[in-house]
Amino acid sequence: MSKRTIVLMPGDGIGKTVLDETVRVLNAAGFEADYVEGDIGWEFWKKEGNPLPQRTIDLIAEHKVALFGAITSKPKDEAFEELASELKEKGLVYSSPIVGLRQHFGLDICARPCKTYKNNPLNFIKRGIGDEIVEPEVDVVVFRQNTEGLYGGVEWSNPPKDVYNALMTHPKFKQNFGETPVDELSVSTRIFTKKATERILRAAFEHAKEYGYKSVTVCEKPNVIRETSGMMYKMAQQLQKSDYSEIELWNTNIDAQMMWLTKNPDTYGVMVAGNMFGDIISDGFAGLIGGLGFACSAQMSADGVAVFEPTHGSAPKYADYETSIVNPIAMVESACMMLDYLNEKEISTKIRKAISEIISEGNVRTYDMMKMTGRADVVTKGAASTTQMADAIIAKF
Ligand code: NAI
Ligand code: MG
Repeated sequence: MSKRTIVLMPGDGIGKTVLDETVRVLNAAGFEADYVEGDIGWEFWKKEGNPLPQRTIDLIAEHKVALFGAITSKPKDEAFEELASELKEKGLVYSSPIVGLRQHFGLDICARPCKTYKNNPLNFIKRGIGDEIVEPEVDVVVFRQNTEGLYGGVEWSNPPKDVYNALMTHPKFKQNFGETPVDELSVSTRIFTKKATERILRAAFEHAKEYGYKSVTVCEKPNVIRETSGMMYKMAQQLQKSDYSEIELWNTNIDAQMMWLTKNPDTYGVMVAGNMFGDIISDGFAGLIGGLGFACSAQMSADGVAVFEPTHGSAPKYADYETSIVNPIAMVESACMMLDYLNEKEISTKIRKAISEIISEGNVRTYDMMKMTGRADVVTKGAASTTQMADAIIAKF
């Protein structure tokens, strides 16, 4: 069999470091692949006026699977300031290459697992019935619709006339906003399509089936957001009945779910939600299992393009440290999701087992796991560097 090729997109800041270390772990674990590098991020915005150059899109289209570190993005004015002087007259506007990737490749399914590692000092703890300390074991995978809903980008301030007129045909709009001057209105839409809703629901149920989760929870707000949340829940009921009767379907409201997050996080299995609520619950659950140093994700399209990335950003303040201090586990875990996707489960299991042992033993911990403030000197105070953590993982193979 010919070797597969993986596109590496290091991006900016710590994205580069964690990706380098992750490739080292993948090689040591016996994953056989060729790698090609895809340019993405702030550097390419500054130099070329495009943070997602066409050549990177072409590479992903050719090879389908990518590992992505993280990028830096900055507000509009700063983005313009940092543009190369010869590009300043061209009327270029910065837009997020992450959103660009999602839209270009239709990466509509986002999966974010949040699983407790035993003995991680960052695990959430609470008081039990007799006031004893309890550490709930979280094992949740959030399936977030990644392209529509509130992040679909269909929005206006001071909406144009035809939009305003269309809104005025809705009795609730007329009643509640009909008196407001149009230039005092901002409108963001929440559009769900049946096609994308069905895809995210099916992905959630399939995952539950494959990995033995007993429940899928739709986390929306169908009692209030009747059309979009309502459609998602109704479709989930139909799908469960027709194709997944062995899996329980639960239904929670996003607000109540955030309250229950700390009450019974160990109750939930697979969660599924629209774009924004999925973003919220996945950050919520990630906070219970160690936060940004542990939060990994996968984004997948209908035609086989998949991008795996940690949830954290480029953490610019740590980017120039001579010895990198950030935790590579979120990136390594994202690579494990890639291995699962590529059916290399033996290798992903080996890597996860190594991580689990290291955390459990507690001898090698990055600064976040030691609850230190991130500074260049944490390494002299006993925190493992990024490279030392990767070395420790590799030493377990
Ligand atoms: P960030 O995730 O880069 O950093 C926030 C804080 O989290 C850091 O200061 C650090 O204390 C901690 N942290 C992050 N990753 C860590 C790791 N692997 N190990 C240990 N600690 C870690 O978010 P921030 O500071 O809001 O954004 C910085 C830049 O990253 C911005 O330009 C932002 O636009 C971009 N960003 C990019 C994302 C992406 O590429 N997917 C996601 C979020 C932000
Ligand atoms: Mg988020």
